[in-house]
Amino acid sequence: MFSEESKEVSFLRRFSWVVVTGGSSGIGAEFLRAIDSLAPGAFVCNLSRTRPEAFTDCERRRHFTCDLERIEELQAVAAELLAMMLGRGCSGPVLLVNNSGFGAYGEFPDPNPGHNASMVDLNCRAPVLLTGLLWPEILRRGGQIVNVASLAAYQPTPFLATYAASKAFLLHWSLALDCEGRRHGVRSLAVCPGPTATNFFRRAGFGEAPVPGYGLTPEQVVRESISAMAKGRAQVVNGFPNKLLAFFSQRMPKAFAASMGWRLMARLRLKPLREAKRRADAK
Ligand SMILES: NC(=O)c1ccc[n+]([C@@H]2O[C@H](COP(=O)([O-])OP(=O)(O)OC[C@H]3O[C@@H](n4cnc5c(N)ncnc54)[C@H](OP(=O)(O)O)[C@@H]3O)[C@@H](O)[C@H]2O)c1
Repeated sequence: MFSEESKEVSFLRRFSWVVVTGGSSGIGAEFLRAIDSLAPGAFVCNLSRTRPEAFTDCERRRHFTCDLERIEELQAVAAELLAMMLGRGCSGPVLLVNNSGFGAYGEFPDPNPGHNASMVDLNCRAPVLLTGLLWPEILRRGGQIVNVASLAAYQPTPFLATYAASKAFLLHWSLALDCEGRRHGVRSLAVCPGPTATNFFRRAGFGEAPVPGYGLTPEQVVRESISAMAKGRAQVVNGFPNKLLAFFSQRMPKAFAASMGWRLMARLRLKPLREAKRRADAK
C-alpha cells in the first residue's frame, strides 16, 4: 500500500494505541488490516459485534465484542479500554477510527421507526460517546480521530433521509472537533466515501450496489484516508468523481439539492422493485 520510507508509514508508526470500530467487514476491516501491517508496534483494538476474520487476540491485538448501539455496552468497553491504556504503561498517541455504521434505503420510516433511531444511535451517538469517554486520555497523549462519514453528508438525500442526515452530523461534528483539538495536538479527519464495494448495500436494502461499475474498493478508501491524515487534512472525499459531486452539491441550495436527489434516488428505488416483480412473475 505504501513504501517503508513513505510519510504515511512514518505517520502511522507514531501511534502506540489504535482503536477501530466495525473492523469485522468492509472499510473497517481494511483499516484494521492496513494499520496492523503498517504499524506493527501499535496495540490494535477492534470493537464490533462479530470478531474480524484472522484477528486473534495476542500481545498486541484485542477484539471487544460490543454492540455500539447499546449505551451500557459502549460505556463498559470504553472503561476497559481506558483501564488497559493506563495499565500498560505505553504512553504514545492514540488513533481512533469511528467507522461502524449502517444505512437504510426506502421512504421514511421504512423499514420501521426503531431502525431509523438505531441508525442515529450507531452513526452519531456512538462516535460522540466513545470519543468523549476516551478524550481525556487522547488529549493527554495526543492523537488522531477518524470519523467515517459519507458523500451523502453533503446534501439532504431522499430515500436515505436519516442516513444522509446522520452523516451530515458526523461531518460537521468532526470538522468542529478538529478545530478544537488541533490546539491540543489532536486532529480529526472526516472520511467521505462514495459508493464502496462492501456489505453496506445489502444491509441498507439495495439489491446490489446502486451504480454498477462506479464505485470504490475499501483499499482505495483507506489508502486515501491514511494519506489525508499524514497531510494533516480535516476532510477527504474519496475518489475524483465524488470530489466533484461533493464540490457542487454542497454549493446548491439545500431544498434544490434535495429535489434533485429525489429524482435520482427514486429511479434507484424503482429498479429493485421492478426486478422483484419480474422475478415473482417468472415463478
Ligand atoms: N460502502 C459504502 O458505499 C459507504 C459509503 C460511504 C460511507 N460508508 C460508511 O462506511 C462505514 C463502514 O461501512 P462499510 O461500507 O464497510 O459497511 P459494512 O461492510 O456493512 O461494515 C459495517 C461495519 O459496522 C459494524 N457495525 C454495524 N452495526 C454495529 C453495531 N451495532 N455495533 C458495532 N459495530 C457495528 C459491522 O460490524 P458487526 O456487524 O460485526 O457489528 C461492520 O464491521 C459506515 O459508517 C458506512 O456508513 C460506506
